[in-house]
Amino acid sequence: MAEANFILLDRVDSTNVFARSHFSDLPDCSVVAAVEQTAGRGRLGRRWESRRGLSIMASAVLKRVEQPFHAGVVVGLAGLELVRECIPLAFSFLKWPNDIYVDDCKVAGILSEGVISHGRLDGVVSGIGINVNDEMRTLREAGIRAVSLREIAGREFFLEKMRRDLAKKIEKYYIMCQSNSPQMLSLWRRENRLIGEVLTVCLPAGGTKRGIFTEITERGEMLLREPGGAVCRFDCGDVKIDAALVDFETLKRNFNKYKSRKG
Ligand code: BTN
Repeated sequence: MAEANFILLDRVDSTNVFARSHFSDLPDCSVVAAVEQTAGRGRLGRRWESRRGLSIMASAVLKRVEQPFHAGVVVGLAGLELVRECIPLAFSFLKWPNDIYVDDCKVAGILSEGVISHGRLDGVVSGIGINVNDEMRTLREAGIRAVSLREIAGREFFLEKMRRDLAKKIEKYYIMCQSNSPQMLSLWRRENRLIGEVLTVCLPAGGTKRGIFTEITERGEMLLREPGGAVCRFDCGDVKIDAALVDFETLKRNFNKYKSRKG
């Protein structure tokens, strides 16, 4: 990836806001990262808190996506690969729609935002926050299931290199997205390791639905089969893991088999 496509800012309100407001000037597949965000944005209107210099905060400018959700797929697969390189022995996976988990704790989140001008979609900015050297214990004590790579690995990571590695991986999956999107989507589905498990979806308008997560469609929607057999389709929402209902031991065993097959 050309160095010119990677921008590191010292302090910014939000890399997503920056990438959106400079969208037309930034080359396709630019990655804007920051050491500090003063107003990081999370999904569903939430804030994304991270302390200066402790985590990855980066946004990709993707101008040629066939479907908007593909941008989150590109960044999700790139983020997952980076996480796996840092903590190869842990059970890490994608959690629909756009999180990266280790066991039942969130290690990274992704926020994708369409950029529209004159009523037309010009592209998508997809931002990722990865908890790297942070201390998440206080959040966990407050009941929020979050973890950092340092807490899992027991050592610190060098953010400067990680940011650049992330940009290279985003480029790799963006190329796959354009040359072979079915291949990218089947990889994305495979890495969504909660398919087949009982989960609860919190609906954006309020309320919840519990059922078996049966499938992810071609459009990136989640299908959930309720106990009575009705199938619900979601294109957004928050998914809750009830650790007592998810068979993590089997999931981990299958994951280890998959890893050893991949070599
Ligand atoms: C989530 O709610 O899980 C999504 C969090 C996304 C956070 C990242 S940090 C870099 C980029 N800039 C932002 O303001 N948000 C995203």
